[in-house]
Amino acid sequence: MAENNTTLFDSYGRRIRDLRISLTDRCNFRCFYCLPNGEPPLARKETILTFEEIVEVSEIFVSLGIEKIRLTGGEPLIRKDVEKLIEKIAPLKLRKTPSSNSNRLIDLALTSNGHSLAGRAGALKEAGLDRVTISLDSLKPENFKRITGVDKLDMVLEAIDAAKKANLDPVKINAVIVKGCNDDEIVDFARFARANNVSIRFIEFMPLDSGHEWTREMVVSGKEMREKISRVYPLKLKEESRGSETAWKYSFADGAKGEIGIIAPVTQMFCGACSRIRITADGQIRTCLFSTSEYNLRDVLRSGASPDEVVDYVKKVTLKKEASHKINEKEFVQPDRSMSFIGG
Ligand code: 5AD
Ligand code: SF4
Repeated sequence: MAENNTTLFDSYGRRIRDLRISLTDRCNFRCFYCLPNGEPPLARKETILTFEEIVEVSEIFVSLGIEKIRLTGGEPLIRKDVEKLIEKIAPLKLRKTPSSNSNRLIDLALTSNGHSLAGRAGALKEAGLDRVTISLDSLKPENFKRITGVDKLDMVLEAIDAAKKANLDPVKINAVIVKGCNDDEIVDFARFARANNVSIRFIEFMPLDSGHEWTREMVVSGKEMREKISRVYPLKLKEESRGSETAWKYSFADGAKGEIGIIAPVTQMFCGACSRIRITADGQIRTCLFSTSEYNLRDVLRSGASPDEVVDYVKKVTLKKEASHKINEKEFVQPDRSMSFIGG
């Protein structure tokens, strides 16, 4: 098969390799930068993609050259039997895909808030999950509660430990840094990365909160974060940094274990190298986190379309991928749906 039949490109020539599938728009945390104001209007249950549909979609995307699948949410582990879903997706790492090309999945990851992960890390690994990213926005119990709305810091720390023990490797930690909220903990996080041999990814606050509270003044720039860390623990840019990855990756100059990642979508836009596409829990394709339109893949799947028809639809939608976000432009409009809907 010609390469262009088995690879996904957008209209700017970017190759799409990374699919994020949201398993649910529900969450048991209330992070203020995501969904602070109680339950937002949730998708009706019957609109949520079934595991069968998610497996079908995964196969089709892998046949189109998707190499990484990340399961996200909301909190994906709220969905019952996620291990069973992983068991069905993981074989895409081994075999050729149904469209008889040689594309295969390379990396199967999951993003979790850490709630209920500790007891399941082993089973998730066994089912075929490669690795996890866990959100951790404060190392102080009081501040953790203020940010997430729940008093569960210990549970998340246990989850990180369990993920390491289960070899869900490398364990990455996401910390969204917000001015006046947790920017005084940046160096503590760096120390935590060194002591626990994990990769901490410091993320700029993006206008994706359901409360629409985001302001530019609340953003701590990636540069500021890096400088704060470097003053205490000098950093060395890693050579493989950064390709189509969103993070600038650093090791510690003194050879300590652990890694620092800086993700700066607001002040150092990386859209030119974007390789991502997303599916919401209710089966809508989103070509960008900041898209203002969505494409109803669920209806296509449920209309009885053949795999070839789904492939055509996905290719057409991919061509609509936006050149870049417009956070820094005057006409910027914050998307209605928060990260918990879109899938991080
Ligand atoms: N800005 C930046 N990152 C966010 N996340 C959620 N909301 C935002 C936001 N407004 C990130 C969190 C979480 C991941 C799923 O998405 O780090 O780990
Ligand atoms: Fe839940 Fe994650 Fe959003 Fe926090 S960031 S509310 S853990 S979906």
